[in-house]
Amino acid sequence: MIIRTANLNLYYHKFQALKNVNVEIRRNVITGIIGPSGCGKSTLLRIFNRMNDLIEGVRITGSVLIDNEDIYSPMHDLILLRKRVGLVFQRPNAFPLSIFDNITYGPRVWGISDKKTLTEIVERSLTAVDLFDDLKDRLDCPALSLSAEKQQRLCIARLLAVEPEILLMDEPCSALDPIATSKIEELMIELKKKYTIIIVTHNMQQAARIADEVGFMLLGELVEFDTAKTLFTSPNDRRTNDYISGRFG
Ligand SMILES: Nc1ncnc2c1ncn2[C@@H]1O[C@H](COP(=O)(O)OP(=O)(O)OP(=O)(O)O)[C@@H](O)[C@H]1O
Ligand SMILES: [Mg+2]
Repeated sequence: MIIRTANLNLYYHKFQALKNVNVEIRRNVITGIIGPSGCGKSTLLRIFNRMNDLIEGVRITGSVLIDNEDIYSPMHDLILLRKRVGLVFQRPNAFPLSIFDNITYGPRVWGISDKKTLTEIVERSLTAVDLFDDLKDRLDCPALSLSAEKQQRLCIARLLAVEPEILLMDEPCSALDPIATSKIEELMIELKKKYTIIIVTHNMQQAARIADEVGFMLLGELVEFDTAKTLFTSPNDRRTNDYISGRFG
C-alpha cells in the first residue's frame, strides 16, 4: 500500500466536496477514479499532492498517508511531496520553452546544472515516454510545436525527470483523439512497472481497459472501491451498478 486515507473530508468554504473517504492505493498498479461530473474526482486526486492547498477556502480533516507519512502534517516537506507525486493535467501544459528546457526544468530547480547530467536525464525521460528517437535531433525546438499527444507525453516525461513515485492523471486523454488516447494508455501500462498511477477518467471503457483497481465516486463519497473486474462486472452497490449500466451520469 502506498497511499492510505482515513476519514478524509474536504470543504470548499461550507460546501463538503469529499465525505469520509477511506481509500487504499496499491503500489505499481493503475487505480482509476470514475463518477459523474462534480462528484469530487479531481478534488480527491489533488489531495495526494496537496494541490487543493492552493485554493482559497479549502479545509481538510482526516489523514492522508503516503508511505506511512502524514502528508498534511505541518512537518511535511511540500516541495519534496510535489516531486514525489506529479500531476498530469487534462490539457497538456508544456511550457513555452524548448523540448530540452521543458524536461530539464524540474532537475534545474533541484540544483542540477551539469550539462552532461541534464542531457542524460532528457534522454532517459524521453525514452520512457517513447519520444526520444523522434525528438533527439530537435531538442531545441519549441515544445508547443508538437502535436497534442506528443505534448502530453512530454509533460509526462517532464514529471519523470525528477524521479517521482506517483503519477496523478486528471483525464489525461480528454483532449486527444482515439489513436493518441490508445498510445497514452499503452504508455501508462508500461509506466506502472515503475510508478504508481492514479487516473481520473470520465470514460468507463478507458478505466476498464487500463485500471487494475477502480473507485466509483458519487456526491463526494467513495461509494465503492474494488478490482476493475469486480467493479465493472458485479459491483456490490446498487448506485455503482446504476452508473456503470448507464442509468445516470
Ligand atoms: N475551487 C472550488 N471552489 C468551490 N467549489 C469547488 C471548487 N472546485 C470544485 N468545487 C466543487 O466541488 C465539487 C467536486 O468538484 P470536482 O472538480 O472535484 O469534481 P469532478 O468529479 O472532478 O468533476 P468533473 O468530472 O466535472 O471534472 C463540485 O460540486 C464542484 O463544483
Ligand atoms: Mg474533474
